[in-house]
Amino acid sequence: MDSLETTYMGLHLRNPVIAGASSLTSNVTTIKALEQAGAGAVVISSLFEEQIQLERLQLDEELAEFDNLHPEMVTIFPHIEHAGPQEHLMWVRRATEAVGIPVIASLNAVNRETWVKYAKLLQETGVDGLELNFYATPTDLTRDGASIEDEQVAIAADVRQAISIPFAVKLSPFYANPLHVVSRLDAEGVDGFVLFNRFFQPEIDVSQERHISPLRLSNEGDYGLSLRFAGLLFGNVTGDICSSAGIFTGEDAIKTILAGATCVQVVSTLYRNRIPYLTSMLETIEGWMAEKGYGALEDFRGKLSRAQAPDRWAYTRAQYVKLLLKPELLRRQRSA
Ligand SMILES: Cc1cc2nc3c(=O)[nH]c(=O)nc-3n(C[C@H](O)[C@H](O)[C@H](O)COP(=O)(O)O)c2cc1C
Repeated sequence: MDSLETTYMGLHLRNPVIAGASSLTSNVTTIKALEQAGAGAVVISSLFEEQIQLERLQLDEELAEFDNLHPEMVTIFPHIEHAGPQEHLMWVRRATEAVGIPVIASLNAVNRETWVKYAKLLQETGVDGLELNFYATPTDLTRDGASIEDEQVAIAADVRQAISIPFAVKLSPFYANPLHVVSRLDAEGVDGFVLFNRFFQPEIDVSQERHISPLRLSNEGDYGLSLRFAGLLFGNVTGDICSSAGIFTGEDAIKTILAGATCVQVVSTLYRNRIPYLTSMLETIEGWMAEKGYGALEDFRGKLSRAQAPDRWAYTRAQYVKLLLKPELLRRQRSA
């Protein structure tokens, strides 16, 4: 599949479909299965600050505190239950040795010094790249957005200084202006932007009147935000855009590349449709390219970005206003 080759953060990928961080990328067996199915690269499940702190607590034998912390930690992502950072680092090294495709480690720290320390330690495992998972849901009513953004930009700058492998940041869409945040991070030399992460939301069982943590996946058609921001950023930043969240099919991947993405990350579709489905996504992309006469992804990347789209209103709210002012368009869409 030569025509699908691409370069993401300076890494050569045989194709643009990356298996995103999840429990599917937290063991060698499934990572090998992802490689076999054709994944262009894999992002290993994140090393979390909680794992690091847990090890510290264990070392200090503060097991009483551990009892209180543990339930909170394991509800974030179920697969962090046992592994501490040392175990994680060892297994990341094993993963890099087990497959031939690029392996990207992922880090979700809290303290500024932990970000830098573990970015360096992850680099030493031999991974090809790193993803900083800026997954943090605000819980403090007094903290202003600008200070959170400043801190994230400072962390990215520190990490840039500390490591030589390429790194991306994975962001949530919940900034007042994600474009500004991305362009600030771009100025600090971040190599890629994974847009976006999906937050796990709290869920309540009304019969038991208690919180529960079901595995919530994205749904087909949820790629709208990824597409929008790929389209708005294309041509405006130096780093690569990796569209993520709600990309289920080869056609979804084609859409985000037309908007301007360099590559895509997929997770939910692999849970719902199983790992071998990735092969059919690649076949869809190749089939579509052959039909359109495209020999390489570059031939159509960004063709429908804001910068290049023939419809200059496509990324504005004019589309929405047009629908409101012309009800016959709505009727036509409903009957289509
Ligand atoms: C079970 C599960 C575990 C996940 N673990 C991680 C993780 O360790 N690090 C991370 O950055 N994202 C993690 N994610 C988020 C995914 O990488 C991805 O950003 C999100 O599911 C949206 O993509 P999708 O719509 O293709 O699923 C996880 C998602 C799921 C469903």
